[in-house]
Amino acid sequence: MAPVLAAKMPVLKELRAPMDGGRTFRGKRILGANKTWRGLFCGMVAATLAFAAQQYLVVHAGWLDGFTDQADYASLSALLIGPLFAIGVLGGDACKSFIKRRLNVPPGRPWPFFDQVGEIIGAVLVTAPFVSFSWVQYVLVVAIWVVADFLVSALVYMVGWKERPI
Ligand code: CTP
Ligand code: MG
Repeated sequence: MAPVLAAKMPVLKELRAPMDGGRTFRGKRILGANKTWRGLFCGMVAATLAFAAQQYLVVHAGWLDGFTDQADYASLSALLIGPLFAIGVLGGDACKSFIKRRLNVPPGRPWPFFDQVGEIIGAVLVTAPFVSFSWVQYVLVVAIWVVADFLVSALVYMVGWKERPI
């Protein structure tokens, strides 16, 4: 959500340098105007803060006690995992945009399921060295993400912050 919120914040709104630098590939934009460095930077900051908060809760408040065998929260560095997670999520998201542009889907136009799945695949790939998930857990993580993304989008639309429900 960080890149979406950053795009709405008055101070950050103007910082919209595109990640593809406006360049094209075979006559079409590589990623499109909606994939910005601002989004990646804000994602990195947000993911670092989110991971640090989770780590604090796990280590100091016994949060998810008995459920943390899959990741060693105490020894992981938020400064490594946070930015890496954002690179995975927004890298996966950018790959999805690359495919959308090749298929002539304009930036911002929904492409259901693929819009949701690119970012979680990216996240899963970059964090794989730090977690020990079974295949079933990976399938669950992807499924929960896709469903949660649809639900959050619908909620955000209902409160009027988004023009489309998906
Ligand atoms: N965003 C951004 N930088 C990124 C990713 C997202 O600034 N690297 C912001 C943009 O304002 C974007 C919004 O978050 O419009 C929603 O992201 P997303 O739905 O992934 O992009 P779309 O606008 O749908 O564009 P595309 O068709 O390329 O997916
Ligand atoms: Mg979109």
